Amino acid sequence: MTAPRLHIIGCGRAARSIVRVLHASSAVRVGQVVNQSLASAAEAVELIGAGEPAESLEASLADDWLMLGLPDGQLAEAAEGLAGRLSTGPALVFHLSGSVSSSVLSPLGECRAAVHPLRAFSDPEWAATHFGGTWCVAEGSSSALQALAPVFESGGGRFVTFAPTDKAAWHAATVAASNFLVVINSLARELAVQAGVDEDDARHMLADLQKGTLASLAEMPATQALTGPFERADLAACRRLHGAVHDLLDTSRSALFDALARATVELAQDKRGMREADGELLKMLSTTSRRD
Ligand SMILES: NC(=O)c1ccc[n+]([C@@H]2O[C@H](COP(=O)([O-])OP(=O)(O)OC[C@H]3O[C@@H](n4cnc5c(N)ncnc54)[C@H](OP(=O)(O)O)[C@@H]3O)[C@@H](O)[C@H]2O)c1
Repeated sequence: MTAPRLHIIGCGRAARSIVRVLHASSAVRVGQVVNQSLASAAEAVELIGAGEPAESLEASLADDWLMLGLPDGQLAEAAEGLAGRLSTGPALVFHLSGSVSSSVLSPLGECRAAVHPLRAFSDPEWAATHFGGTWCVAEGSSSALQALAPVFESGGGRFVTFAPTDKAAWHAATVAASNFLVVINSLARELAVQAGVDEDDARHMLADLQKGTLASLAEMPATQALTGPFERADLAACRRLHGAVHDLLDTSRSALFDALARATVELAQDKRGMREADGELLKMLSTTSRRD
């Protein structure tokens, strides 16, 4: 069977990375690529290794597929605008957002889906190399899901179909898991460098530490994966590190550390119940102090 021809509007970090993978596995033939600027579309085509940069799509898409890799907030308007302009809509249309329903694509036809890949596409080339095993969480019409599953699977994606009852809440969950992990890692790196550890060493060691914790989290409840001085309610150790944090970090970063530490104490209490030192710990974490 001939692979579908796929056009892309909005071929940024996520779309160009995914299309590179789908093209490499011969799951799609890449058609026109439209971005805000032609130069950016040409960059995307170069990374994908196929396709044709274009100012706008041909008026008739006939049997072709269309991917909208636009920012979430632009999807509804783009679907409306395209529906008014195209003489023949796509045979299948999908977007990549985790927060917007596939129904936003209804002006473009019945065969529509949202495929949300659970991967941070900060560096498209790197993300494409590491796409294997990526969960691709999809919802939409059964015809679209049936057609898209083998395409994403041939690129190594793990295609799963479910429709969260609240997409905004699901999106918030993925932001907390991925984006907040980056923020926490940057906080840890800052402290490690302030502690005199070489920046490259800090990067490797802290990412390895996080990987180990994530491996535990894949196997057990969060309360069980939790360890450390706040979980043990080790008041003396917590006082020392709290003093260091407030000496070394600026106010907003130390406030972030304290907020996370309070949440850590609360999670620890779910695991081991209240400890005598918890009151002191929570008091310390609610007041700004500097080490003597
Ligand atoms: N990044 C991720 O890690 C990730 C992960 C999962 C899902 N997603 C989803 O993927 C989608 C895109 O996110 P992203 O991070 O890839 O965004 P992005 O890197 O900012 O890319 C957006 C692309 O859309 C193009 N664009 C913007 N307005 C346009 C318009 N009016 N006409 C044509 N092209 C237009 C931009 O063109 P220019 O390059 O010319 O500005 C850019 O190439 C979102 O729905 C997001 O939720 C992203």
